[in-house]
Amino acid sequence: MSATIALQLDPFALAKELSGKQFIDGEFRPASSGKTFPVINPATGEEVAQAAFGEAADVEAAVAAAVKAQKEWAKRGARERGKLVAACGAALGERVEELGRLLALETGKALRTESRVEAGVLADMFTFFGGLAPELKGETVPFNPTMLTMTVREPIGVVGAIIPWNVPLLLMAMKIAPALVAGNAVVVKSAEEAPLTVLRVIQIMNSILPPGLVNILSGFGPECGAPLVAHPKVGKVTFTGSVETGKIVYRTAADKLIPVTLELGGKSPMIVMADADLDQAIGGAIAGMRFTRQGQSCTASSRIFVHDSIHDVFVETLKEKVNALKMGDPLDEATDIGTIVSPQQMDRVQSYIALGKETKGATAHALSAMPADPKLAKGLFVQPHLFTGVTNDDRIAREEIFGPVCCVIRWTDYEEVIAAANDSEYGLAATVWTRDLKVAMDAVHRLEAGFVQVNQNLVVQPNLSYGGVKTSGLGKEATLESMLEHFTHKKTIIINMK
Ligand code: NAI
Ligand code: MG
Repeated sequence: MSATIALQLDPFALAKELSGKQFIDGEFRPASSGKTFPVINPATGEEVAQAAFGEAADVEAAVAAAVKAQKEWAKRGARERGKLVAACGAALGERVEELGRLLALETGKALRTESRVEAGVLADMFTFFGGLAPELKGETVPFNPTMLTMTVREPIGVVGAIIPWNVPLLLMAMKIAPALVAGNAVVVKSAEEAPLTVLRVIQIMNSILPPGLVNILSGFGPECGAPLVAHPKVGKVTFTGSVETGKIVYRTAADKLIPVTLELGGKSPMIVMADADLDQAIGGAIAGMRFTRQGQSCTASSRIFVHDSIHDVFVETLKEKVNALKMGDPLDEATDIGTIVSPQQMDRVQSYIALGKETKGATAHALSAMPADPKLAKGLFVQPHLFTGVTNDDRIAREEIFGPVCCVIRWTDYEEVIAAANDSEYGLAATVWTRDLKVAMDAVHRLEAGFVQVNQNLVVQPNLSYGGVKTSGLGKEATLESMLEHFTHKKTIIINMK
């Protein structure tokens, strides 16, 4: 029987309500040590809550609850599981405003342009995967006429999901919705910068799902994430974050011989051909670079290759358009661009801006305007920066910055631009802007990336396979195929009928 959770549209009050808690075995619990750490509003620097400091003992409790719940969950029919997961989607869909506001408060992502939108996609992801439950089918295999040979899809057991702070709702949903529908239980480790909204999501889901099936821990990587990955009863880990941490997760998983899914960021190229529709391409640059999210995106179009013949007009128009975006209080409806998530990330972004300014041949263009409101004086605001005169060999064009720093690279030769776009350790996303279908088709086949678009720059959507090649990761997410491949194993059964 689902308990009614009162809607709380005041994010400050909701942050206090959720303060100091994790969600284990169907109930809120403080960390077993009693320790907490502060959750800061990046727009003001003020503390809005404490988060429980989860450690190995909490991992132990959450995994034990998940193991128990999973056994019963797996016995239910797939369609019944799917219905319940879809019901979570419906319940979350009713809380978009509540979740969006809390997300804006803890991450600094503007409510209208980012946080509310993300809360909507979260709900959609559960609805989508809930509907895929009947597709957990096996096969019959024509092996021998006297033997009935078939395959069935079985759940793995307990899935550990480690998520980052930049798009915590969507990324969590992409992991736990398919895991649950496939018959697994989950233990999520939230990002230390954004522990509250995902906790609310799990609380809402728990009012529909059996206790222990969804658990969430908050805490830091080494103290809480590492013991979750290493836990002997965790049979699968799905991770989104940095390459460095992804490799640590992969090594631990290798010791246990368990499967992993890794989504690890990028340095995504956007190639603008001479014949591109300029307005469309500039709109795509703004959307693709995620200027409204302060560029804190793994798919950010952070290398924009613009054909020499339109380079200057492209840059001027892009500057005008980004200048027109309003930076300010993330909770204000008029705000287009919010803050950077944390002081650490702010330092990183500023050090790359400084590096860009020292880069030979590069020119910095600081855009938009810092907010004037004195209440935001301590906020983690940084002006979006465009760097022109950059080459693909410069560090700012090679390293993932994860901030509002965008390189514009001038090109003239088609073969050279394709080679430069592929000359990156990453391969997550890419876009091509042209009216010429032949050129578009040639480029999409040659670009080394998991997600390639022509004349648009959409974010990940349910049913579109998402994930990278090269160091951008391992495995794909957001589709039926990803649910089957990453959250089940195939069992072959042979019945001798002779
Ligand atoms: P991170 O990769 O360290 O953190 C992501 C998640 O992993 C967090 O929940 C963190 O607590 C956890 N974690 C950290 N160490 C761990 C360990 N040893 N074992 C298990 N879990 C662990 O990323 P961070 O420090 O937040 O950001 C650093 C950089 O990583 C960013 O500047 C950005 O370039 C990149 N990044 C990429 C993301 C993506 O979407 N691909 C998301 C976040 C960051
Ligand atoms: Mg880290």
